[in-house]
Amino acid sequence: MTGPEEIRPDAVPGTGGPGTAVPLLEVRRAGKTFGGVIALRDVSTRVRAGEVTCVLGDNGAGKSTLIKILSGVYVPDSGEYLVDGAPAAFGSPRDALDRGIATVYQDLAMIPLMSVWRNFFLGSELSRGWGPLRRFDVVRARRVVREELRSMGIDIRDVDQPVGTLSGGERQSVAIARAVYFGARVLILDEPTSALGVKQAGVVLRYIAQARDRGLGVVFITHNPQHAYPIGDRFLVLNRGTSLGEYGKGDITRDELTSLMAGGAELEQLAHELGRPDPAG
Ligand SMILES: Nc1ncnc2c1ncn2[C@@H]1O[C@H](COP(=O)(O)OP(=O)(O)O)[C@@H](O)[C@H]1O
Ligand SMILES: [Mg+2]
Repeated sequence: MTGPEEIRPDAVPGTGGPGTAVPLLEVRRAGKTFGGVIALRDVSTRVRAGEVTCVLGDNGAGKSTLIKILSGVYVPDSGEYLVDGAPAAFGSPRDALDRGIATVYQDLAMIPLMSVWRNFFLGSELSRGWGPLRRFDVVRARRVVREELRSMGIDIRDVDQPVGTLSGGERQSVAIARAVYFGARVLILDEPTSALGVKQAGVVLRYIAQARDRGLGVVFITHNPQHAYPIGDRFLVLNRGTSLGEYGKGDITRDELTSLMAGGAELEQLAHELGRPDPAG
């Protein structure tokens, strides 16, 4: 394991596209407190187009607080937040969305009894000038959703089926496809795989890879290094609100990442405590 990457301000302006110098999003030494609780202190990271930045940490590490800063829910108390290399202060998640920063929360804000296609367009009908749904629009909406899901390789039998009948992985996949369709440049996913089994988690990881391959910058929050490692380009590890460092894929192995985020010493101690006494000793 080499040292964490140094976060330096970029000198060269660019477009924020793949391989260019300016990240889509950047926080520099961001801090956030709630009353007396320091939720985040001095945390820096960057999100680049066509890359997956993983944010890892145990419960209470500050992961959700960081993504709420990135997604316009909170303004940091200290430090800087930059979008396309320029300081940004969003008044609401809607402002962030208008800049192409889409967040998919664990609870997903979908209506279980409504169809897949209605959920896909939920909240977007008005902003896209749809007005009251007319017959023509419904036909078109179904077609768009069917095509979008297919183009992401998502196999949903029937877009008229209620979202509640989909598996957790399928629901996450629909939410990712929706964000891509509505023009997201940055996709922020708060623990999308945490409630899922191995197979379903694999499904979601595949769509994260698809979004990345389409050039989106992805922020993937998880407490599971097994999910993060295969897909991540960079790994930011948080512990009790502070950064334990940000590592490129080449700088850290999966085992090192696991022990870093779990507190390697604590795990070794636990293994020692739980092991059977040596019969010879
Ligand atoms: N709105 C809030 N009010 C008070 N404390 C908060 C609030 N949000 C988060 N915290 C505290 O900040 C710390 C980090 O929380 P959070 O960002 O949710 O961590 P994580 O998502 O990694 O589990 C925790 O100690 C949490 O209790
Ligand atoms: Mg959280």
